[in-house]
Amino acid sequence: MRLVLVGPPGAGKGTQAQFIAEHLSVPKISTGDIFRANVSQGTPLGLQAKAYMDRGDLVPDGVTIEMVRDRLAQADATSGFLLDGFPRTTPQAQVLDDMLADAGVKLDVVLELVVENDEVIRRLSGRRTCRTCNHIWHVDFDPPADEGVCDLDGGALYQRDDDQAETIANRLEVYAKETAPLVNYYAERGLLIGLDATGPVDDVTQRAIDALRPLQHDF
Ligand code: AP5
Repeated sequence: MRLVLVGPPGAGKGTQAQFIAEHLSVPKISTGDIFRANVSQGTPLGLQAKAYMDRGDLVPDGVTIEMVRDRLAQADATSGFLLDGFPRTTPQAQVLDDMLADAGVKLDVVLELVVENDEVIRRLSGRRTCRTCNHIWHVDFDPPADEGVCDLDGGALYQRDDDQAETIANRLEVYAKETAPLVNYYAERGLLIGLDATGPVDDVTQRAIDALRPLQHDF
């Protein structure tokens, strides 16, 4: 299955991507994770992306598209994938359509995680991420057993630089202007499923799995 997750910052895309990708046995491809890995390794791509990410702006389309093109060309993505955080602009969506058409395949579904802004602000303010495995926790809604330590592998948890209040506000504005139009883009193509992403993480995962089940007989 070829699946895209779309939704505002903090909607729970990364959290759900972990579970849905595992359920579907497809690789999870998160552009945010790839950029953050490059930033922490100090690569040229990371140095280029960092200033945009720190402000909560989008990294330019050209850079992002080439990065995704390389990732989708890897062997594990040839028979399916879950994209988290891409596409995020109409040009990115158009290029993705072209890339898939060139490969003789197409997107199967776009899941939109629907959550109000006040809830995403609560979610982002308490988010903690594992430095080793990237698992996502929340200090109140999904806390690890030991504060600051990942239950899964004992890795140290950190707070993302772009989860400061002013940066969150800018990310929400950028989402409304640049990314929200993709909801119509995919609805017009008959690919969009809107998913209520409020309530406990497990409930949202179950809703997502239920929404995808009718499509799964094709795979
Ligand atoms: P990216 O990492 O993609 O950030 P984002 O889209 O802003 O999304 P987030 O990762 O902040 O949130 P999420 O929806 O994944 O929520 P999460 O599951 O973590 O991108 C970062 C930056 O990289 C961008 O700003 C941009 O600069 C650049 N970039 C990336 N892709 C790009 C692209 N395509 N083009 C250009 N630039 C790009 O959950 C948040 C918190 O809520 C967690 O603590 C979690 O535990 C908690 N939570 C989750 N679900 C629930 C629930 N149901 N109830 C309670 N708490 C919950």
